[in-house]
Amino acid sequence: VADLDQPTWRPASVGLVGGGVIGGGWAARLVLNGIDVRIHDPAPDSARRVEELLAGARRAFASLTASPLPPEGSLRFCDSIEEAVGGVDFVQESVPERLELKRELLVTISLHTCDDAPIASSTSGLRPTDLQAAMRLPERLLVGHPFNPVYLIPLVELCAGERTAPAFLDRAAGLYRAIGMHPLRVRREIDGFLADRLLEALWREALWLVHDGIATVSELDDAIRYGAGLRWAFMGTFLTYRIAGGELGMRHFLAQFGPALALPWTKLSEVPELTDEFIDELVAQSDEQAAGRSVAELERLRDACLVSLLQGLRSNGVGAGATLASWERGLMAPVAGTAPDAEPVPAPLQLVVREIPPGWMDYNGHMTESRYLDLFSEATDGLLRWLGVTGDYLARGRSYFTVETHLSHLAQLFAQDRVKVSTQLLGHDRKRLHVFHVISRSREGGDGDQVVATAEQVMIHVDIAARSSTPADPQVLARVASLAQAHAALPHPERAGRRISLS
Ligand SMILES: NC(=O)c1ccc[n+]([C@@H]2O[C@H](COP(=O)([O-])OP(=O)(O)OC[C@H]3O[C@@H](n4cnc5c(N)ncnc54)[C@H](O)[C@@H]3O)[C@@H](O)[C@H]2O)c1
Repeated sequence: VADLDQPTWRPASVGLVGGGVIGGGWAARLVLNGIDVRIHDPAPDSARRVEELLAGARRAFASLTASPLPPEGSLRFCDSIEEAVGGVDFVQESVPERLELKRELLVTISLHTCDDAPIASSTSGLRPTDLQAAMRLPERLLVGHPFNPVYLIPLVELCAGERTAPAFLDRAAGLYRAIGMHPLRVRREIDGFLADRLLEALWREALWLVHDGIATVSELDDAIRYGAGLRWAFMGTFLTYRIAGGELGMRHFLAQFGPALALPWTKLSEVPELTDEFIDELVAQSDEQAAGRSVAELERLRDACLVSLLQGLRSNGVGAGATLASWERGLMAPVAGTAPDAEPVPAPLQLVVREIPPGWMDYNGHMTESRYLDLFSEATDGLLRWLGVTGDYLARGRSYFTVETHLSHLAQLFAQDRVKVSTQLLGHDRKRLHVFHVISRSREGGDGDQVVATAEQVMIHVDIAARSSTPADPQVLARVASLAQAHAALPHPERAGRRISLS
């Protein structure tokens, strides 16, 4: 079941306690999903770090999705926990992984948060029963364990403690889905939950292999990234092994490789002692592997690769890609008070404003050809939303398809250019729309806009189930007519109606 086919919940405001790597990542994901965030972290440079995380997340989201993001939520830095959590609808705690510290802060949080607000802890492995013990209304506490970077990785493990009420877990799952995440419920409370159990087993084995001088950190990373790591992102361990068993599947795989589990290969139950020498060696090998690249550079590389991976998975409709698609469908749903209620004005509609992502460049160093059409189709989607062709209308199999496009390239676009697309309605009837889009680049210092491309398109209204064209519904036709009236007095664009020729 797609994530967004399950219940979602969009709180107006969320309080965050702890604004480090994880708290800052939560802030970014929430703000970019249009939710107001209040955050408390006593570290003097916390605000700067959170702002930097938010900037990185904005950059990543600009490449991740062409769907319209809601207006950003606000971000308020608070001097106290009381101020951060008082009156919010949901709290996420992300302070350092120390049981006593978390327990103490969770008591303070529980005293100042509304009785019906879920309180989630980002802990990587502490048990919720231990965390909630001294809280006021402990039934509100659950674990919501995310993965770094929180704004791109969809997984969040949910774990209830002995006193957690299921309704709070459900509400938290609804929020996580609404902001594009995949909540995975841990059936029974255990230390380390599911993912960290797996990751720690792998890491422990890897540390032994370095400790025993068998491999370097970089060779061990290669053993993952050139091989198994590629499969894990879409099939995990078990489905991959099912295929490895050939047509006979899992039973054959277990018969063939199961006995090897008994061989004394691993040292999983022991931990190599982290002596000073061993730590020095690990750090030295890690420095060599990083080859002078800063953490910020590596973060940008990580985010760019995650975006490509998520998009690749989306094309195949699997795993984290299916979560991305669900979230995007949610973004396309009409939001009360936005476009479909707006009265048309006698000016082209401004339906897209965005930054050009670096991944859209080609080998010539400028924006590749197909991305122009991507920008125009974002504008077309915006027009359809404006006309009310959204949500239920689309679900009933009614939509407009583009049947003809004439695209003119007038200037180049480069990474990080700010562009907007404006759209003028040139003509219409009960089935068709004739539109003219213009992409323009904002010049530095507000010095007017430069037109970089235009597209003239005809769209036809269809009934998808009947596989035929059909007139649009009356409420859509009424929107079309009011837009046509507003655009009637606009000058006819110079390039409209041009045919392709050498003369
Ligand atoms: N880093 C990861 O990959 C990761 C992944 C999943 C979960 N987690 C969990 O998330 C939590 C936070 O980890 P992190 O990596 O963000 O650590 P971090 O050290 O980057 O951030 C912790 C933040 O908490 C702040 N803090 C300390 N005392 C505080 C207080 N009294 N009130 C408010 N803030 C306070 C610190 O100033 C710091 O900015 C931990 O429980 C960790 O296990 C971490």
